[in-house]
Amino acid sequence: MDKLLIAGGAPLVGEVAISGAKNAALPILCAGLLCDGALALSNVPRLNDVATMLRLLGQMGVTAANGDGGTVTIDARTLTNPVAPYEMVKTMRASILALGPLLARHGEARVSLPGGCAIGARPVDQHIKGLQAMGAEIRVENGYVLAQARRLKGARIVTDMVTVTGTENLMMAATLADGETVIENAAREPEVVDLADCLSAMGARISGAGSDRIVVRGVERLHGAEYPVMPDRVETGTYLCAAAATRGEILLTQTSAALLDAVVEKLREAGCAIECRPGAIALKAPKRLKSVSVRTAPYPAFPTDMQAQFMAIDCVAEGAAVIRETIFENRFMHAVELIRLGADIRIDANNAVVTGVPTLDGATVMATDLRASASLVIAGLVAQGETVIERIYHLDRGYERIEEKLTRLGANVRRAR
Ligand code: UD1
Repeated sequence: MDKLLIAGGAPLVGEVAISGAKNAALPILCAGLLCDGALALSNVPRLNDVATMLRLLGQMGVTAANGDGGTVTIDARTLTNPVAPYEMVKTMRASILALGPLLARHGEARVSLPGGCAIGARPVDQHIKGLQAMGAEIRVENGYVLAQARRLKGARIVTDMVTVTGTENLMMAATLADGETVIENAAREPEVVDLADCLSAMGARISGAGSDRIVVRGVERLHGAEYPVMPDRVETGTYLCAAAATRGEILLTQTSAALLDAVVEKLREAGCAIECRPGAIALKAPKRLKSVSVRTAPYPAFPTDMQAQFMAIDCVAEGAAVIRETIFENRFMHAVELIRLGADIRIDANNAVVTGVPTLDGATVMATDLRASASLVIAGLVAQGETVIERIYHLDRGYERIEEKLTRLGANVRRAR
């Protein structure tokens, strides 16, 4: 298994381009299942999760062609097997995003239940409840969701909690349903808007994406389209945190500050000078960061996917901060690894109290999930001496060419087996 070796201490300085968003690319690739034609995507990040999604679509019989520079064309007219098997779903929960499109376009789906994962139980009951409200017959048997519907019918759906992929699954299913679907308590995440924009380019009739009430008027068919995937706001935020923690100065291009207001605000509170330009963000870190408390919540509040990276910042900032996780019940696994690097963190249920220390010391740590891995990379970049991060396959799921990008910014990072 690959590991990452980091010799810490160097400030990140320079310019780096941000990749397309993983969490937009995955639902958009599934949207291709709805399409009666070819969907040509650009700015698709080269990530393990994207490769897994392409393999998943491939085993369904979908034609997928990887072009140059992040282009991918998929054509679902060749689909023969509307199944998402356990072996694939267990490595990537986002496979559940195939459920709504398969059902809407092909009348049936057999998708493995994802089960829990390192950060919590993560059920998919809201996806199922919404599709049932649209008239689908759904049974759960032998760990699989078996769904059938001649044609889905528009419905008014109120989700019990804000769910990102739940909203996306229902919105996709509704595009080909008979009549109007209203999704109340919808997720407002920018990736939901990007998916809605792509579906609209395919001929869907959607309004309200980006608000908590999405209205979809079903159409008979969706046609092929071309669509560029939005920039990755979590990758953007991660590099901003890495520069902040190492007292660096960076310019991120091919991104948009408007996607991460809550994160930018917190970095300013920590003492960073941030300039938001069209398509770019510049950050200059202070000599010593001030600690900042954060509370995760659905967009536009502070994202859970940036919680671990801010914990790394708070580890070396001046003062004490409280980090409160409200989305996932078990998302502090990075804390014990950060403590191995010399951090002062106390966990009490879903609160972490982080007291800044002057510096961290390199050690061997283990990545436990995608964003936890990013926090360990940030801590390793700050720490004195060498940090070895084991199990970095998590990082490869969500960060494109991470060691290449960090090296460009002056970090001393290398991958080893
Ligand atoms: C998505 C993101 C993930 C991010 C998360 C929260 C993708 C591919 N992944 O995950 O990176 O961390 O949003 O911003 O976009 N829940 C239920 N029942 C359901 C659905 C969700 O109880 O049917 C709960 C979850 O367990 C969790 C909360 O709702 O506690 C929010 O989860 P959700 O927004 O669905 O997360 P994902 O869409 O899986």
